[in-house]
Amino acid sequence: MQFPEYRARRLRRMENLRRLVRETQLSVDNLIYPLFVCPGKNVRREVPSMPGVFQLSVDAATEEACKAADLGIPAVILFGIPQKKDEVGSEAWHDGGVVQRACREIKKARPDLVVILDACFCEYTSHGHCGVLTEAGDVDNDATLENLGRLALSYGRAGCDVVAPSGMMDGMVGFIRDTLDEGGFENVAIMAYSAKYASGFYGPFRDAAESAPKFGDRRSYQMDPCNSIEALREIALDVEEGADIIMVKPALAYLDVIARAREEFDLPLAAYNVSGEYAMLKAAAERGWLDHDRVMMEILTAIRRAGADMILTYHALEAARLLARH
Ligand code: PBG
Repeated sequence: MQFPEYRARRLRRMENLRRLVRETQLSVDNLIYPLFVCPGKNVRREVPSMPGVFQLSVDAATEEACKAADLGIPAVILFGIPQKKDEVGSEAWHDGGVVQRACREIKKARPDLVVILDACFCEYTSHGHCGVLTEAGDVDNDATLENLGRLALSYGRAGCDVVAPSGMMDGMVGFIRDTLDEGGFENVAIMAYSAKYASGFYGPFRDAAESAPKFGDRRSYQMDPCNSIEALREIALDVEEGADIIMVKPALAYLDVIARAREEFDLPLAAYNVSGEYAMLKAAAERGWLDHDRVMMEILTAIRRAGADMILTYHALEAARLLARH
């Protein structure tokens, strides 16, 4: 009988052999935990399409951030749900807004925890689009940049470590960088949502953040899911404009884009394991159709294998707890 020279199965025989030859590691170091901050006190309102994810008032969000810190998670990212919305989303840049207050409280309680603030207006505008509208109902790029500058300064004053512009406006990274530097916030880093696709996977997030557009969609500013060369162009622009961290979003349906970005750029690379990816797994696991923990770890590991350094994920606490047990 003829045996092949090399038998791959030799190294799969036992767990400790598998550990020795493992190429990809998922660590708690890679996790960023998103939180939704809402008005009120002692509010913990579960998002129906995202079991285990809550709208949290400032006090509750601070508690939740402390839980993450206690598990060794290095960073949280905050999204705000304002008291009231208007045409331009002006509550976003109020120093007393929920996100700014939560940032201050969290930094006070856990100075070492990295606080990232998402910079976008869709949660704050009455129409649900990511910026100021023109007469024709288009998002006005440059008017929106002015407001992003106001927002970035307010975030700087709140003491955040990283600003994460997610509205896909042209020139937003450079504009925010200049504004932060002029305002004396040279140490605040920028995590750019560089390649953000117009995706159906954001559905549950829009429930959580109450940010669904009231008319139309985001296809005139977010990327077409058919394109990946364009993603490289988008990332290159953000790198040129001074991004410190680049991001691909969503993650699971865009692992090829993550892999290409990893090959082409030497900046730290983030991937957003978005709300729809989370909801799919929760729904299937609830029906007993998938093994929740196993699939969660497989997904997060796959995003790392594709090349992401860090993962924004609603699974952060669950994953950190599992990782601590191994
Ligand atoms: C807003 C924003 C979105 C997400 C993060 N910031 C979605 C959108 O464009 O509606 C999605 C995150 C998720 O689905 O988990 N600009």
